[in-house]
Amino acid sequence: MADRSPDEREWVSPPESFVERANVTAADRDALREAGWPECWKRPADLLDWDRRFDAVLDEGDENDADDANDADDERTTRWFPGGRLNASYNCVDRHVEEGRGEETAVTWEGKLGETRTYSYRELAEEVNAFAAALRELGVEEDDVVTLYLPMIPELPVAMLACARIGAPHSVVFAGFSADALATRLEGADSQYLVTCDGYYRRGAALDLKRRADNACVSADHEVEQVVVNRLDDDRSVGDHYAYADLVAANEGAEVEPVSRETDDLLFFIYTSGTTGEPTLVRHTTGGYLTHVAWTSHAVLDLGPDDTHWCSADVGWITGHSYAVYGPLALGANTVLYEGTSDSPETDRVWEIIERNGVDVFYTAPTSIRAFMKWGEQHPESHDLSSLRLLGTVGEPIDATAWHWYRDHVGDGECPIVDTWWQTETGGMVLSTLPGADRMRPGAVGKSLPGIETAVVDETGHRVEEGESGQLVVTRPWPGMARSLCEGTDWGARRTRRIDGEWQYATGDNAVRDEEGYLHLLGRADDVLKVSDRRLSTTEIESAIVGVDGVAEAAVVVGDDEEALADPEIHAFVSPESNVAGDDALRERVGAAVEEAIGRVASPDVVTFAPSLPKTRSGKVVRRYLAAIANGEDLGDTSALRNPEVVGELESLLDR
Ligand code: PRX
Repeated sequence: MADRSPDEREWVSPPESFVERANVTAADRDALREAGWPECWKRPADLLDWDRRFDAVLDEGDENDADDANDADDERTTRWFPGGRLNASYNCVDRHVEEGRGEETAVTWEGKLGETRTYSYRELAEEVNAFAAALRELGVEEDDVVTLYLPMIPELPVAMLACARIGAPHSVVFAGFSADALATRLEGADSQYLVTCDGYYRRGAALDLKRRADNACVSADHEVEQVVVNRLDDDRSVGDHYAYADLVAANEGAEVEPVSRETDDLLFFIYTSGTTGEPTLVRHTTGGYLTHVAWTSHAVLDLGPDDTHWCSADVGWITGHSYAVYGPLALGANTVLYEGTSDSPETDRVWEIIERNGVDVFYTAPTSIRAFMKWGEQHPESHDLSSLRLLGTVGEPIDATAWHWYRDHVGDGECPIVDTWWQTETGGMVLSTLPGADRMRPGAVGKSLPGIETAVVDETGHRVEEGESGQLVVTRPWPGMARSLCEGTDWGARRTRRIDGEWQYATGDNAVRDEEGYLHLLGRADDVLKVSDRRLSTTEIESAIVGVDGVAEAAVVVGDDEEALADPEIHAFVSPESNVAGDDALRERVGAAVEEAIGRVASPDVVTFAPSLPKTRSGKVVRRYLAAIANGEDLGDTSALRNPEVVGELESLLDR
């Protein structure tokens, strides 16, 4: 793709045709900002059906004079929508049937072997009710935690909604995790019920999930009752366990009254990697979380009942919870679930799914977009993608080059793109643009959404100047905040504190605010490159490298081999597009691009061309392994990577 001049990249307005029918207009946005925090959260909460209307939008708990930055005694408890009662399953299923939309599609499933299955809202309601009745029969009571260890099959959202119906928080464990990881999570959540399946298909092979689940149950410190979904249809026996299909058949026609939950009651548990790399339990509430994800699906993803939405994230992660299940279903949309990976069985499977289902809104990660770029624009261009009207990205910074490629080759040069910044802890989107109201700036996420306030601060928690980098903090509570963040200030585990009386949640990400107030995310605070006295951002350097024609992906690390006499060096691992040679000419262009974008101080001292980069299962490049390779260190266990084989290839390239 030809390089564009920087000016052309600066600002992009959404097309008039989109603005005219957008859910949230510039006038709506201004009215929300005018209403102020926290009152502006009333309108989002009105997207839901409440069994009992809340008494107030927010109760910030008892004031107590905890002005100190690290005062751990501040026990105030933040409660969103106190006094309100609701049920998430009712909001995501029943009310759409009651409104006469029972025959409209709720879930479209695309199986790994090319099978498809759809559920109308009525069918979804029937299966959710039947499984909720079955869970009750097994002994699941309100507030019991049910663990769901399932791949991307429709039984996963059904089970989530069945749990929500009876007030049993679910804890979804990503199906790619090991038996040990599952055992830790069963114990950590004190969960005595597990819904799993016999196995699933991944890159052509049938994987045995049941054996992993059995091993986890044996090593867990308490008894676990298992329900097994039959996915593979082979002879793997359910043994003493319950077969999901039998339970649903036995409860056919059951009607389970949705349990009316207080807004603060827990909807689900989810584990994420904490700052120490250990799994950390995050808990989300019913009213606050559901309001946040329904509202952002409406305002940012612009979803409504007529839309087919595809969020390509696995439901095992927070993105799948919020924007493949709860958000779109709360709004009555049709949500697409795909069991496979984007390159399997062919590299154009993604475009085929969009074309076949007439997908309106496609939400994916920059890692996937970079892979699509690498495979070539001929793939999206050979499909009719004209149904698409909005594109989204999430999970990592997207550089301007990938942004333009996405818009030009997937969005026909027309679709607005929403870059959405958020975290497992935030529950839903925090920074983005409103596609019907705001201009887009490729490479920048956007502003804090209405009703959310953020700042960029230095180590002491004080604001830095516009254009200077610092840590992104959220300075007021928001409805989707994890339950633990509501419980006072704790600079340790919860990363909340009070600075001169202002509450702050430290996100762990670095950012810069530009002259228009748009935030440019610079990666995690721990991805800062410290080279002697130079402090540089990996993202800034990487985005300059990715801007070079022929480069698909790049990651930079610091080489600080203790035995080396020279200063620490910046080592860039660069993956060229297919059919592009990783040669000295490209190496030179990489160096020149960084020098031009940031300055000589940031130019890589070493450039290693690599076929691909080591990634976590959620698609994030793991710089830690690259740093170890660059420094000739022992890598330890690489089994948590999605592509552990890459590490060996890189080591041999560097002759380590
Ligand atoms: O570093 C930020 C990055 O992903 C982190 C959160 O990861 P996780 O809890 O797994 O949630 C994933 C779902 C959002 C953040 O701390 N991140 C997320 N979105 C963006 C991003 N970085 C840059 N731009 C984004 N749009």
